[in-house]
Amino acid sequence: GKVAVLAGGFSAEREVSLASGAAVLDALKSKGIDARLFDPAERDLGELKTQGFDIAFNILHGTYGEDGTVQGALDALGVRYTGCGVLASALGMDKYRCKLIWQALGLPVPPYAVLHDDSDFAAVEAQLGLPLFVKPAAEGSSVGVHKVKQAGELAQIYKQLRDEKLHGEILAEQFVSGGEYTCGVLAGEALPSVKIIPQTEFYDYEAKYLRDDTVYQCPSDLPPEQEAHMRALALRAFAAIGGGGNCGRVDFLRGADGALYVLEANTLPGMTSHSLIPKAAAQCGIGFADLCVKILQTAYV
Ligand code: DAL
Ligand code: MG
Repeated sequence: GKVAVLAGGFSAEREVSLASGAAVLDALKSKGIDARLFDPAERDLGELKTQGFDIAFNILHGTYGEDGTVQGALDALGVRYTGCGVLASALGMDKYRCKLIWQALGLPVPPYAVLHDDSDFAAVEAQLGLPLFVKPAAEGSSVGVHKVKQAGELAQIYKQLRDEKLHGEILAEQFVSGGEYTCGVLAGEALPSVKIIPQTEFYDYEAKYLRDDTVYQCPSDLPPEQEAHMRALALRAFAAIGGGGNCGRVDFLRGADGALYVLEANTLPGMTSHSLIPKAAAQCGIGFADLCVKILQTAYV
């Protein structure tokens, strides 16, 4: 059948999605699959039916594509798709509500606060310590993430973010200093962890996509028992939001004392040349094109 690679869309991560989509399209074609790019910003999803697409390889990122909206529309149209369904997508896009679920299950998350206009910003700075991170709860690729280093800065960054009207609540999060890691989940199994060593202040949009000096370690430097622990946490965190047998990626921070913290889940992780899941899959001997075929197959389960 004919595969639509859903990419682009309307979110702040549109460019990232187009890069992911182009890579996936090439890979599927290289495997002899009849695939076409389908940008939901330019076309009506209903065309999937009228144009005879049997299946959607969803590689939209962010609002509308990763948050359950498109998933619900595809369910209503009766078009099969890769990636998570409505509930896991909606939860995964919302870092605040993910944390609530993980906390309820006893999974470790970094201390955080939800900010409002009437928050006592000085008290939040004192409670979480400096530096700290501020971020919109429902964006991806570090869009809108700021590191607050100086006392008194939090209120101003909060107002700036609020006025940018990004998606979700605005969160302040404790800085965790022992390193950034990620762990992919592929059809219900965890991939090897990847350690990310940005040459910037933190793993921001620039370090993710624009620079070529970000260092990725896979296998990472975790001792074997911590590697196993991270993989188990990734599976639990992903299952907790309903991700189950689908593909995704769970991001982690490691404390100076080695403790692991679940940071966020990504239900449609990037598939660009800079992205993390392809690196982890390669470590298991799964090349990019085979990875895309494996993900495509999850649409049929
Ligand atoms: N949100 C980006 C695409 C990622 O998690 O890879
Ligand atoms: Mg994310």
